[in-house]
Amino acid sequence: MARSIWVCGACGHAEAKWHGQCPGCNEWNTLAEEAAPAKLTGGGGRGPGASRVRAARVVPLREVETPRVERLQTGIGEFDRVLGGGLVPGSLVLLGGSPGIGKSTLTNMALGNLQAAGGRTLYVSGEESAAQIRLRAARLGTGALDVPVLAETDLETVLATIAAERPEVCVIDSVQTLHAPDLTGAPGSVGQVREVASQIMRAAKGAGVAVLLVGHVTKEGALAGPRVLEHLVDCVLQFEGERERTYRTLRALKNRFGSTNETGVFEMHQGGLVEVLDPSARFVGEATGKPGSVVLAAMEGTRPLLVEVQALVSPSELVPPRRVCNGIDRNRLALVLAVLARHAGVGTGTQDVFVNVVGGVRVDEPGADLAVALAVASAARGVAASAGERPLACFGEIGLTGELRSVAHGDRRAEEAAKFGLAPILSAESAPTLRQALRAALGSPAAAAA
Ligand code: TYD
Ligand code: MG
Repeated sequence: MARSIWVCGACGHAEAKWHGQCPGCNEWNTLAEEAAPAKLTGGGGRGPGASRVRAARVVPLREVETPRVERLQTGIGEFDRVLGGGLVPGSLVLLGGSPGIGKSTLTNMALGNLQAAGGRTLYVSGEESAAQIRLRAARLGTGALDVPVLAETDLETVLATIAAERPEVCVIDSVQTLHAPDLTGAPGSVGQVREVASQIMRAAKGAGVAVLLVGHVTKEGALAGPRVLEHLVDCVLQFEGERERTYRTLRALKNRFGSTNETGVFEMHQGGLVEVLDPSARFVGEATGKPGSVVLAAMEGTRPLLVEVQALVSPSELVPPRRVCNGIDRNRLALVLAVLARHAGVGTGTQDVFVNVVGGVRVDEPGADLAVALAVASAARGVAASAGERPLACFGEIGLTGELRSVAHGDRRAEEAAKFGLAPILSAESAPTLRQALRAALGSPAAAAA
């Protein structure tokens, strides 16, 4: 009796065997293995007359009871904040990030703190041996060594252990290394990952265990395989930054129990991850203030954050010239360069352009446009962007006709800049067009040339 079926990810068509092309919708390579539902393997269905189901009673939302949930504090302030105030008992959280970013370190530290506070925890690792985990835990402080650990890749053993140990919080590191014996696919394949996660979810919801699922991401930065998981879990956290850099940001992409787009900033030290409590101070303190450097007043979720945007413009030997960016979207850079050329007289058609958000931070908001444009223009002209004597801070979206558009939370961005002595701030309120903003920050081009 077949125990798995192949289901098309595009149309949901199910087949008993794998096909390269889905017979349902003719898409290629969309069939993925899944455990066959019981009624398909068991045979026999319900006849039309057999269902005598009574309608359920519906109630207005006002009358629905909302029990107060006690959140479990991980003791890592930034982590708790991104979660929306701590872990919700019985919830399923997916923590994604590239290898070496610090997922194991973060989850280890969280469990250590919970254990030290008297909680029951369990750390399941399919990647490292118990000895390797111990070596890391020894650097992470006292509680980390008290965390019970299971080095195992077999899903059924893991589920049985969770049922026996009844932890309050359990970490699965990582969801791609566990293996459901019902399916033939290799660990980490889409079918396996989905099966592993849904079985863990059933067990966790039943027993009220909060589960942190660690997931790897692909080279493109997407959660590998588990796109499907994003629908399943309550909360998706992304841990990002570059391995060589010290700063790492943790952000919520989805959160059923709190706001998304909250961000925590961490730094990797000898003794594990350390929260960066005032990232703006760090980034502003490190800003060079030289030509090509501009401070961006960005919003990270509900929190304003000052980051330095740097640009370098140099003659190119390539056609088309290089466009390299770190921390901003490539397409957004292309748009900014086009508007600079067309509406502000800063052409970079024959030059390489490099743009970098310092510290490995990613800013994914239109409010970053003006800072990118100013950094590029400042680099191209070799003039430092300044507001009087001080370095310049700015924010604003650039429209296709060369106008500056206002973005959300202008007042909070301005306050943050003022706090670090970067007032007045340049934005759509003080300069309606990009051309005017350039004149305010860099002076007129003629004066620079003279
Ligand atoms: P790790 O948490 O294992 O990353 P992931 O689980 O996301 O793959 O560790 C990330 C890196 O951090 C690792 O290469 C070693 C380094 N590290 C430190 O610098 N200090 C520390 O205290 C620890 C535990 C790790
Ligand atoms: Mg790891």
